[in-house]
Amino acid sequence: MPSQGLEKLYSREHIARQVQRLGAEISRDYAGRELLLVGVLKGVFLFFADLVRAISLPVNVDFVRVASYGPHTQTTGLVELRKDLEMSVTDRHVLIVDDILDSGYTLEALYQHLAGRQPASLKTCVLLDKRHARQAAFEADYVGIRFDSGFVVGYGLDYQEDYRNLADIYLFDPARSV
Ligand code: IMP
Ligand code: MG
Repeated sequence: MPSQGLEKLYSREHIARQVQRLGAEISRDYAGRELLLVGVLKGVFLFFADLVRAISLPVNVDFVRVASYGPHTQTTGLVELRKDLEMSVTDRHVLIVDDILDSGYTLEALYQHLAGRQPASLKTCVLLDKRHARQAAFEADYVGIRFDSGFVVGYGLDYQEDYRNLADIYLFDPARSV
């Protein structure tokens, strides 16, 4: 796994502070209710594990797997649901949790998909929001870190399946990586 082309952008301490803040906001907003957290695999796995432990409410967890076509650093707008939920969302308070909001196509498609199953409420939470990359008209309800551009890896995020285990988040330039 090459380490060229990586430039540290967010430290593990900075990430942890944002995750604690999100957990506190979510715990306050959903006080008195039971929450179903839906993680979007695979990139969310570390963020999800930290976020559930920062929430001081009874929660259930489930996962979906979504793939947007295109192997490189651009999404195409074609979103495929590769693994559906195992639990029912009907009449439940559902919070979709994803790693990064980029074009917005993934969360928009997933949101529409779950909204059709009559949840009691449906909101979204992302660790990272690439504000200027948006192509779909979609915004998340809870955002950890907003940033402007660049492709990032680490803390669950990959480039062609590599770098997910890095504890910090790095800007990644594929052109400089070989
Ligand atoms: P969207 O549909 O364009 O919003 O893309 C969302 C998905 O694309 C995320 O859940 C990630 O899996 C992936 N993605 C978008 N930007 C990045 C990035 O900078 N690094 C790693 N994965 C990314
Ligand atoms: Mg993803």
